[in-house]
Amino acid sequence: MTDDWLDDTRTSYDADADAYADQVRGLLEGSPALRASLSLFAELVREAGGGPVADLGCGPGYVTRHLHDLGVDAFGIDLSPAMVAVARRDHPDLRFEVGTMTDLDLADDSVAGVLAFWSVIHVPDELVPQAFSEFHRVLRPGGPVLVGFHVGEGTRTTTEGYSGRPIRVDSHRRQPAQISQWLREAGFRIESELLMRPDDELPGAIVIAAQPATQ
Ligand SMILES: C[S@@+](CC[C@H](N)C(=O)[O-])C[C@H]1O[C@@H](n2cnc3c(N)ncnc32)[C@H](O)[C@@H]1O
Repeated sequence: MTDDWLDDTRTSYDADADAYADQVRGLLEGSPALRASLSLFAELVREAGGGPVADLGCGPGYVTRHLHDLGVDAFGIDLSPAMVAVARRDHPDLRFEVGTMTDLDLADDSVAGVLAFWSVIHVPDELVPQAFSEFHRVLRPGGPVLVGFHVGEGTRTTTEGYSGRPIRVDSHRRQPAQISQWLREAGFRIESELLMRPDDELPGAIVIAAQPATQ
């Protein structure tokens, strides 16, 4: 498959980075379920011995910041250079790099945890196994992975950003069972599936899994 989705996603978030950051500012403060999930993830990182944690598709970096404030040594990676610039501006004491979760510039077994917060939503079905196999490659044995995503079916294409600028980005809605199955196939053991606001028009879910410690 071609990399058009990668180019479209990158240029869309480049065009909309500031407006996106404004849109999500304060989001965690309004969601005890998200904060609780991040606290559980931080606890699992500590239990596995601690160390650097990669926030993949970190956007403006507020989740990276939250994890840091929970005592986690978190750094961010995002496809969009403009988004990384916003994250660096808003959190100058944290580390953010440009990269793609489908081909991570990280060594094998080099991180203690991997988190992808509403970023796998942009990865096409055919490439999710590749992304999850990258998560498995870079994660140390015993380390947790957290995936947050929109729940539902099918793909929506957004053509106007929060800034009003034209963009073109696909978002894929999925069932928790599908995400869990892909994680199992990549070698992870599922720890929990949390379905949030199932009666909303667009529910969310968080799956937490772990790299078995004995591998
Ligand atoms: C919906 S935003 C989520 C940002 C942030 N995690 C949050 O929860 O607000 C999706 C982010 O994923 C990034 N992204 C999309 N595809 C990516 C990829 N293949 N690798 C790394 N980042 C990606 C986008 O640039 C964007 O910043």
